[in-house]
Amino acid sequence: MTVPHSLPAARGKPLRPFAVLGLVSALLGSACVAGTPGTAPTDPNVRLASGDAPKGAPPGSKETLVGGRPLFADWPKGQKPDAVIVFTGQTFGFLQPCGCSRPQTGGLERRAVFMESLRAKGWPVTGVDLGDLLPEKSAIREQGQMKYVAQMNALREMGYVAVGIGKTEIASDLLALLANYGYQKEQRPFTLAGNAVGVSGGKIVPRQQWFSPNPDKKDVRPVVELTEVGTVGAVPVGVAGVVGKSLALDAKNAKLDPTLDFLEVPDTLKAAAAALARHPLKPQLNVLVYQGTSEDAAKVAKDFPQFQVILCQADTDLPPLMPTTAPGTKTLVVQVGHKGQHVGVLGAFKKPDGTFEFKYQLVPMGEEYITPGKDEDARKANKVLPILEEYAKSVRAANLLTQYPRVPHPAQIQAQGLKPPAALSYVGSDACAKCHAAEHALWAKAHHGRAMEALEKIATRPTLRQYDPECVRCHSVGFEYQTGYVDEKKTAHLKHVGCESCHGPGSGHVANPKGADFLALMSPWKQADAKKLPAAEFMEKMANTPAAERGRVAIAPAQQLLITRVEGTCMKCHDQENDPHFDLYKYWPKVNHSGLAPAGGWPAVAPK
Ligand code: HEC
Ligand code: HEC
Ligand code: HEC
Ligand code: HEC
Repeated sequence: MTVPHSLPAARGKPLRPFAVLGLVSALLGSACVAGTPGTAPTDPNVRLASGDAPKGAPPGSKETLVGGRPLFADWPKGQKPDAVIVFTGQTFGFLQPCGCSRPQTGGLERRAVFMESLRAKGWPVTGVDLGDLLPEKSAIREQGQMKYVAQMNALREMGYVAVGIGKTEIASDLLALLANYGYQKEQRPFTLAGNAVGVSGGKIVPRQQWFSPNPDKKDVRPVVELTEVGTVGAVPVGVAGVVGKSLALDAKNAKLDPTLDFLEVPDTLKAAAAALARHPLKPQLNVLVYQGTSEDAAKVAKDFPQFQVILCQADTDLPPLMPTTAPGTKTLVVQVGHKGQHVGVLGAFKKPDGTFEFKYQLVPMGEEYITPGKDEDARKANKVLPILEEYAKSVRAANLLTQYPRVPHPAQIQAQGLKPPAALSYVGSDACAKCHAAEHALWAKAHHGRAMEALEKIATRPTLRQYDPECVRCHSVGFEYQTGYVDEKKTAHLKHVGCESCHGPGSGHVANPKGADFLALMSPWKQADAKKLPAAEFMEKMANTPAAERGRVAIAPAQQLLITRVEGTCMKCHDQENDPHFDLYKYWPKVNHSGLAPAGGWPAVAPK
């Protein structure tokens, strides 16, 4: 990563591009919501069981269905739109589809394929993004900043004109972010936030000066702009961007960045409308990137009819199927949801009187938009894939694995309270194999025993996932905890989902196999009145009982508690996002290793 050629010193703030956050235990991103945008509750956009084929065209149908709906069905037939704008925003760092189970929605690779598919129809296409490119919470700040750069590069390659700034950019040191993109050279997409200003020594510094790559020269464009105009096909499209009232207030109250402030929205929009009106390209279609709530966006629409379309923050992960029309106006207010799972496509058809008729479709980024072909060919065909590859390389180069904040495991805390206190550490599955040969043999040939290979070999777009903390944390032993997995050199013995991923750090038990305190810590789910999971027949019966009817099956409270605690252990990794199909009753039998003790019990001293 490089710093800009000439960051002005006058901003009263040293550039600190990649400061690492302190101990952060709140981890990455909330769950992706599987389900349906809008109101139809049975949209096929819900996740299928893994292994099912993605939904595409149903047999015999001529129309391709995307997310259960035909594409552009109510758009004028046989007529090309005069301009198409793809709206996105609030991706929150999801460069890829969220989750490990199929089918997954979202990701930049698919978005690029989708936009190319529109261009292949001969449609003129551009993109406008609302901003919030960074994760809402990032265990490592530097990773969020890398994701910003990767996305800006990808947006440029996909032909975007403009991007807004959201809360996540404001919270992540906007100047440092711009240092790695906007300040590098004048390139699209332009960052639009017309009301952003600097604050230095208690005084407001105008945007043009604060964000200028060269404050001594008057005619240099600031890297945070009021408007941008691009020609889409033959249609000049004007875009303006502002930080809405609610976000400005939020940023101020939370002191997200004391060197930034935001001027009144109406004043800024007056200036923006005037700037667009006098622009030499004479934009015919004006879009407002409004980083604020849909409610506030509707109010803005009333006062500024110059903007035919407003892109605003989404109320929920799953966006409405259609834009709303702001009350008392003709302005379309567009929401696209979160995490890049959907894009909003606006088609503008010119009418004889010079105004536009608008058509819109919300499109989920499903598996039909995966770049076809082998990885090598796909990387040549899709310009976003090499950018993701670059990103993965930068993650490895920055050694993020070693920067991950580690907290004590609950067993490590409890062991400190034993008499005498014990410092527990992870020892690796091979150490357990010495006395638990049968359990180890079963484990080694199942998925958990090779879980890191999923990152090294199966995940290839991009590669190098074994260096990314966001992946490694569930594909290794104790990554989030003290003495857990760090990297393949320092902790090769902690690769894969090992014994201690579920049983906790085992050094105490290995040193003293009969020690009751340590045995208890190795099976933290055990209850006084329930020592083990139910027998295999019961597990199977439950697996075959529909979830809704399971509540009627009688289970003793202590047994239920044990089940729930084991389930909780699994779901730290088999969570809603990465494995929405998880069901303990179905999964446990595949990893069950109970009742394998040799006659006479496990050896208390490791056999030679
Ligand atoms: C030196 C031999 C030895 C090693 C090494 C060893 N164990 Fe054990 N393990 C035992 C013995 C002996 C028992 C039975 C103790 C008893 O019940 O008195 C046992 C019991 C257990 C139990 C059952 C605990 C309970 O009471 O429910 C678990 C779980 C377990 N071991 C996990 C592990 C794990 C994980 C490792 C590696 C970190 C490991 N063991 C390494 C000897 C060993
Ligand atoms: C919250 C935990 C979690 C995180 C984070 C996570 N995974 Fe996974 N991953 C899982 C689980 C659980 C499974 C098994 C899912 C299943 O069986 O359906 C899995 C399965 C996979 C598989 C399929 C393996 C196979 O045998 O087919 C791949 C590939 C994979 N993950 C890659 C990744 C990548 C790449 C990342 C980072 C972008 C990642 N995972 C992050 C939990 C996680
Ligand atoms: C996916 C989580 C998970 C992994 C990985 C795992 N275990 Fe277990 N293990 C459990 C659970 C849950 C139980 C309790 C089973 C029960 O109550 O029937 C258990 C039980 C045991 C027991 C007691 C068995 C008995 O007959 O009472 C031993 C010993 C044991 N595990 C050792 C190991 C060893 C050694 C490894 C690694 C080779 C390992 N486990 C890997 C979750 C796991
Ligand atoms: C530390 C994270 C982690 C924990 C805890 C965990 N798993 Fe997993 N599990 C994974 C990952 C990652 C995979 C995918 C490995 C692969 O395919 O390479 C996986 C795969 C599996 C699979 C194979 C899935 C398939 O498609 O066949 C089963 C079954 C499974 N886990 C069951 C469990 C159960 C039951 C528990 C709790 C007792 C559990 N896991 C706890 C991470 C975890």
